[in-house]
Amino acid sequence: MITSDLLSWFYAHRRDLPWRTSRTPYSTWISEAMLQQTRVTTVLDYYPRFLERFPDPKALAGAQEDLVLKTWEGLGYYSRARNLIKGAKYVCENFGGELPSEPDLLLQIPGIGPYMSGAIASLAFDKPVPAVDGNCIRIYCRLDALPLVPSEGSTYKEIHSRVLKDIPEDAPGDFNEALMDLGATVCTPKSPKCEACPLSDSCSAFLLGKQEDFPAKKQKKESPVEEHTILKIYLGDKILVRKRPSTGLLAGLYELIDLPGTMTNKQVKNWLLENFPSLAEVKDEPDIRPMGKSRHIFSHLRWEMLGYEIHLPVSGRKNQKDLSACACRLGEPVPPDEYDKLAFASALRAYR
Ligand code: ADE
Repeated sequence: MITSDLLSWFYAHRRDLPWRTSRTPYSTWISEAMLQQTRVTTVLDYYPRFLERFPDPKALAGAQEDLVLKTWEGLGYYSRARNLIKGAKYVCENFGGELPSEPDLLLQIPGIGPYMSGAIASLAFDKPVPAVDGNCIRIYCRLDALPLVPSEGSTYKEIHSRVLKDIPEDAPGDFNEALMDLGATVCTPKSPKCEACPLSDSCSAFLLGKQEDFPAKKQKKESPVEEHTILKIYLGDKILVRKRPSTGLLAGLYELIDLPGTMTNKQVKNWLLENFPSLAEVKDEPDIRPMGKSRHIFSHLRWEMLGYEIHLPVSGRKNQKDLSACACRLGEPVPPDEYDKLAFASALRAYR
C-alpha cells in the first residue's frame, strides 16, 4: 500500500501554494478551474485577484461577464471563466449559494466534471473520493506497469477504482494533493526523478527500468496518403516551374508540374499531347525518363510521388513558340541559374 509513504513524503515536501492556506469550497473550485490546462506559476497571480473581486458564488453570479473575462485575461481558455459564471448562477439557484459537498451534486454544476467534482469533494469537504487527472493516471500506470492509454475512457475508470482502494478516510484531500505534487515535481512525463520518489520501491515500471514506457502512448493514426506525379519538363535548357498558392501546404514555394495520381509513361505522354498540342505536328516524340518513386511525410499527410524528367522536342521557331505559349499556361520556364536559386518545396527534393 502506497498511502503512508506518499503522505509522509507530502508532509515533508508539499508545495506552499496560496489556495492551500485558507480553503473554502468556493476557493477550491476557482483554483481548480484556473489550474485546468494552466501552469501553477501562471495561476499564482490570478487566484488572489479573482477571489478579491468575486469572493463568493453570489458575487460571481451577479458579476458583469466582461469584468470576469477581464480578470481572467491572460489565463486563456475563456470558456472556463464563462462556465464559472454559469456554475455560480446554478449554485445560487439550486444550492442556496453554497457549493454542495456530495460529488454527484457537484457534477450537476455547469463546468464541473468528474476530476473537479472529486477535487472539491476531497480537498474542501474531506470526502474520500479520487480526483483523477493526467498526473494521477501517469503515476498509477507506472506503479502497476499498466500499459493504458490516458485518453481512453476505460483508463479513467480503471485508475479511479485503484485510487479508491488507496485513498485514506482521514486524509483524502492530502492524498489527492500528494498525487498532484508527485506528478508535477517527481513523477513527471519525461525524465522522472525516481531517485527522489517515495514510491519507487513499490513502482513496477521503475523496477522494470521502463518508467517512460508507462502510460502507453496513443497509436498515431496513419496519415492519409496522396499520390502525385511530378514532371520536370525541359524546354531546351529551361525548366518549367510553378509557384504554389500563398496559403496552404508549402505556401509560396516553387514546385515542378504536379499532377494527381500515379501516372504511367503512356499516361504522361497523353497528358503532354493534350497540354502541348503542337507536339502532334512534329515527328520527334517527347523524351520521357522515369526518375523513380519518392515519399514525403508531412505532419498530417503523406505524399507518394513518381517523377519523370521530360525533354520536349524543339524543332524550328514556330514549334518553339507554340511550346512556350503552352508552357506559360502551366507555369514559367526558367533558365538553370535562376532555377537553382528558387525557394523550392523540399517535398520535391528528389526530383529537383
Ligand atoms: N493542479 C491541479 N490542482 C492542483 C492543486 N490543488 N494544487 C497543485 N496543483 C494542482
